[in-house]
Amino acid sequence: MPELGDDDVKALLGAAKDAATNAHAPYSQYRVGAAIQAGDGRMFTGCNVENASYGLSICAERVAVFLAVAGNCRDFAAVGIVSANTAVPFPCGACRQVLAEFCSAEFKIYVAAENSLKTFQALTLGELLPNAFSL
Ligand code: THU
Repeated sequence: MPELGDDDVKALLGAAKDAATNAHAPYSQYRVGAAIQAGDGRMFTGCNVENASYGLSICAERVAVFLAVAGNCRDFAAVGIVSANTAVPFPCGACRQVLAEFCSAEFKIYVAAENSLKTFQALTLGELLPNAFSL
């Protein structure tokens, strides 16, 4: 899978930022958006969706991945994650493991806070989840 260029990363983070506006986060007030770039050119976005039964809440990253898989896509180039907050949204452990189901250790993860998209951090899945569980 080729590396994303600067414009592609910008587009990914822009889409993630837009997706965060749809977040349902009445409990945490922490809105997150994710955009995952598929190898076939499609992009899938997701936002966090919370529930009054807190444990039923789902992160933006998993919504984006599950939508992609439901759209018959399992080949991904990179994901962008943006929080509508000053805290940079490093993906939680559950989302790292879900990404590891479909993505290699070299898979790129771009994270940024929405007020400073230009100062995004680029990480790999292998850095964030070494020794991922697999069967
Ligand atoms: N959240 C995400 O959407 N992605 C993450 O990687 C971490 C946390 C959401 C879940 C919950 O709705 C809120 O942020 C606070 O935990």
